[in-house]
Amino acid sequence: MSYNLLKGKKGIIFGALDANSIAWKTAERVHEEGGTFVLTNAPIAMRMGQINELAEKTGSQIIPADATSEEDLQNLVEQSMEILGGKIDFVLHSIGMSVNVRKGRPYTDQKYDWTQKGTDVSAMSFHKVMQTLYKADAMNEWGSIVALTYMAAQRVFPDYNDMADNKAYLESIARSFGYFFGRDKKVRVNTISQSPTPTTAGQGVKGFDGFISYAEKMSPLGNATAMDCANYTITLFSDLTKRVTLQNLFNDGGFSNMGVSDAVMDKFVE
Ligand code: NAI
Repeated sequence: MSYNLLKGKKGIIFGALDANSIAWKTAERVHEEGGTFVLTNAPIAMRMGQINELAEKTGSQIIPADATSEEDLQNLVEQSMEILGGKIDFVLHSIGMSVNVRKGRPYTDQKYDWTQKGTDVSAMSFHKVMQTLYKADAMNEWGSIVALTYMAAQRVFPDYNDMADNKAYLESIARSFGYFFGRDKKVRVNTISQSPTPTTAGQGVKGFDGFISYAEKMSPLGNATAMDCANYTITLFSDLTKRVTLQNLFNDGGFSNMGVSDAVMDKFVE
């Protein structure tokens, strides 16, 4: 159902790789709600992914940008303002990657140049995106910036590996930059902490299948889907959440406040 919540709003959406991507679902929902946007992804991901199909469906243009490159980001922001005809109202940072996770390197045996690459892509890129927008004065007042995160930033999930540290860093950047963006430009910055979701990035985590079933059984409302995340993000981009900022918001069916559930207990008393 569409409520026209984003009518007239303009934005940039990072990270739509394929139809499973959280950013893909968000782009579709933003389009339904009347928002217009530029799609962006790393040049290599665009060759592998199906982003053209999404662009066509939503009437959007695509600008390639490696989110670790300040030059690419400057170009992206400048071009987006030209294409969209003015300043930006919303930005979704939906980017994550750990080389250690990808190559099966455990947390206790990190290859640090891989660790650094993962931190740059998954966390520091968020600072770079915001600094680029801030310096270019590219955000409209009462605009909204959202990044996606996971609860391993607060609690131990061993197989999440160095992504746990990257997410802790990402959430801290949201608060720290959110202060300056709020004070100087009246822009809000939040992170959504999402349930495990079957996407390319999600399924790269070791033991994902067991883990997603566990989270499902633990959460009173079940796991939040990519579509649930898209819908939550729409509310944060809309004018209905104008003074929500510096928050890490859990979209996880209640998982983060659970100790144990009947469904999980049942497995231990069989
Ligand atoms: P996905 O694999 O569809 O999206 C990850 C995106 O990051 C891809 O589009 C990829 O091309 C992009 N990316 C990687 N390196 C980049 C770079 N250098 N520059 C620009 N883009 C780059 O997976 P998903 O799950 O949709 O991931 C989106 C966000 O959601 C990530 O931040 C992820 O950590 C987060 N998240 C995912 C969960 C899950 O279980 N899938 C749970 C909680 C958070």
